[in-house]
Amino acid sequence: MGKDSSYFLTEAEWLTLHHQALSRERRQMVEDFPLQPGDRVLDVACGNGLWEPWLAERVAPGGQIIGVDLSPALLSLAREQNKECAEAVLHWIAADLQALPFSSPWADVLFCANTFQYFPQPVEVLQKLSQIVRRGGRIIIKDVDVAHITFSPLPVDLVERTVLAGIQAAQEQKVGHYHDPFVGRKLPQIFAQAGIRHLQTRTYGVQKVAPFTPLETQFLQTIAKVVIDYAREYLTAQDRTAWQRYFDPHSPQYVLHQPGAYFYTVEVVTIGQV
Ligand SMILES: C[S@@+](CC[C@H](N)C(=O)[O-])C[C@H]1O[C@@H](n2cnc3c(N)ncnc32)[C@H](O)[C@@H]1O
Repeated sequence: MGKDSSYFLTEAEWLTLHHQALSRERRQMVEDFPLQPGDRVLDVACGNGLWEPWLAERVAPGGQIIGVDLSPALLSLAREQNKECAEAVLHWIAADLQALPFSSPWADVLFCANTFQYFPQPVEVLQKLSQIVRRGGRIIIKDVDVAHITFSPLPVDLVERTVLAGIQAAQEQKVGHYHDPFVGRKLPQIFAQAGIRHLQTRTYGVQKVAPFTPLETQFLQTIAKVVIDYAREYLTAQDRTAWQRYFDPHSPQYVLHQPGAYFYTVEVVTIGQV
């Protein structure tokens, strides 16, 4: 994601835009997480550390958070952006999540957001990660399920065809790397197969209704571009052109300035106990 030259945002810019545009919904998720003061949280694949301020608030006082990511560049942004955080002790580790440098269970809570969609073997990854969580500790995985994406007033059949084309592209791995943008609905099954019990799953609806803020407009433009890039190969030229017209600010059909324009998708959180 974000590394393809056809995308106009860097990975950190895309993560930040996404996070800011969905900040109300994501903040609510963190409010709902089973965290308590003093918890030790391991944020696996933490990226540029966008969730840390809210996690830190929930584990204060006395909490510790370790953010782990493969990318030293994202970790350096994470460190910089969270340097004023006073609520919890933060550490950052550059490592592969399949080879984490812990010899015994360290975490009360393991958190991983928006990353299980990239794992071809999510059950094995979850089993491995669970070894770092103390007995009785919790695992919180958050991810997307883009099959529910809705843009209105685009014609319903155009949206459906585009989403179906995206599903086909994902199934046939046409995007150049493993990616399951429908992993959200599978999280409970992944936990069950990994042998993790006491599951709770919550699906969060994300809705944006016009008039959109400039940030929401940029976010929706980016989503529309990602969706069409994904689906492109399985759509007719007519559908591709129609989609592009709806998201071209110079077109009379431009949807994001239309009163009553509406966007919807879902994000899923599954929590289990080790
Ligand atoms: C979509 S980003 C999500 C970042 C962050 N969790 C968020 O929600 O904003 C996926 C992250 O996974 C990291 N990543 C991918 N494979 C990894 C691995 N094997 N070990 C550690 N980090 C990995 C990437 O560097 C990237 O920061």
